[in-house]
Amino acid sequence: MPYSPSVLNNALEAVGNTPLIRLDKIAEQEGLQCNLLGKVEYTSAGGSVKDRIAKRMVEEAEKDNKLIPGQSVVIEPTSGNTGIGLAMACAVKGYSVIITMPNKMSLEKEAALRALGAEVVRTPTEAAWDSPDSHIGVALKLQREIPGGIILDQYRNLNNPLAHELTTGPEIIDAVTSTPSTTAKPSSEKVDVLVAGAGTGGTITGISRAIKKTHNRDCIVVGVDPKGSILACPDTLNVEGAGSLYIVEGIGYDFIPDVLSRDTADVDSWIKTDDEESFEAVRKLMRLEGLLVGGSSGSALSGALRWLKSAEGKCIAEKKGANVVVLLADGIRNYMSKPWFLKMALEAEPSPLAKRISDILKESPSQVQTDSETLAEGIKTRTQPNVTNRPDAPDEVTRK
Ligand SMILES: Cc1ncc(COP(=O)(O)O)c(C=O)c1O
Repeated sequence: MPYSPSVLNNALEAVGNTPLIRLDKIAEQEGLQCNLLGKVEYTSAGGSVKDRIAKRMVEEAEKDNKLIPGQSVVIEPTSGNTGIGLAMACAVKGYSVIITMPNKMSLEKEAALRALGAEVVRTPTEAAWDSPDSHIGVALKLQREIPGGIILDQYRNLNNPLAHELTTGPEIIDAVTSTPSTTAKPSSEKVDVLVAGAGTGGTITGISRAIKKTHNRDCIVVGVDPKGSILACPDTLNVEGAGSLYIVEGIGYDFIPDVLSRDTADVDSWIKTDDEESFEAVRKLMRLEGLLVGGSSGSALSGALRWLKSAEGKCIAEKKGANVVVLLADGIRNYMSKPWFLKMALEAEPSPLAKRISDILKESPSQVQTDSETLAEGIKTRTQPNVTNRPDAPDEVTRK
């Protein structure tokens, strides 16, 4: 919740109410006539789109008397963001929480979870979903053994898609319909296309229902699924790269969660994405739009741009005023130590400005000594993106 005119009672009241932001520079670079709009979820209190379902699943379980403060232990298998939302809710409400999470998920997510008071159990990334070693299998085992253990189960809990049908979707609709069309910024005043990645599928299913039921029946909803996952429909789309591992976190699975609707009435079509294009799109969102988004946001943007270039998407891309909304699920805070991000941020080609800075400092008679070559080469020569951190990296400017 970016702004509230009154005092909030707790962190959970700062979940959601995220901004919808024009991505004009990307649209221009891509030659799009339509409006490209990003729903920026990292401004939510816990930093992702999943705060919304965590809050709702906890509050609805309380209404059903399934949670008892001081007794209940909330256990959840997650790729991390649902865990962070749950740990935040449980910190506010006084429940213990255990998060089971595959090894591939970032250290930052684990640190945030532990900081919020959660216990974290890591599981092998390659374990199949129905293996006792998977994050789901381990959560089930813990639930059986721990008194008061309860799995709210984002994969089956109807409050997952419902949270998005009742909050994320209406927020998008409100933002689009309350922004009038102008000559400079034409708008159909409708959500014409929605593009979102799918993990549990709750986000895309819930937003789609909100839009199609209450706002625009003809809205085209495009799901984004990483190569190696099996969520896309029809199944033939999932053949290329079947079973391969991918780095992007939070989207894709090796089973179809109950809350994902693969019905074409809800999700019209699917695009498969790979890591490389996702990270390239993250870079665009950062450099061109100033948005510090995470990896799956790059997948969603890349999927949107590819769909807009497809035979089906072209007519929307060329339509002035058509509104294409891309769901940007979380922020880079979750991935700061990941090699893909360090490589992107620190291995960039030295800019002409870096050379100029180097020349100025070299010529100046101050005590500051620089090596112009090193500075122009920048951090590139001094970082090792294949290690998890860079504790020994020297400063760029050496002071003597
Ligand atoms: C970073 C990120 N992006 C996208 C998603 C997909 O959301 P959903 O599970 O609602 O499909 C998730 C889910 O965990 C996520 O963590």
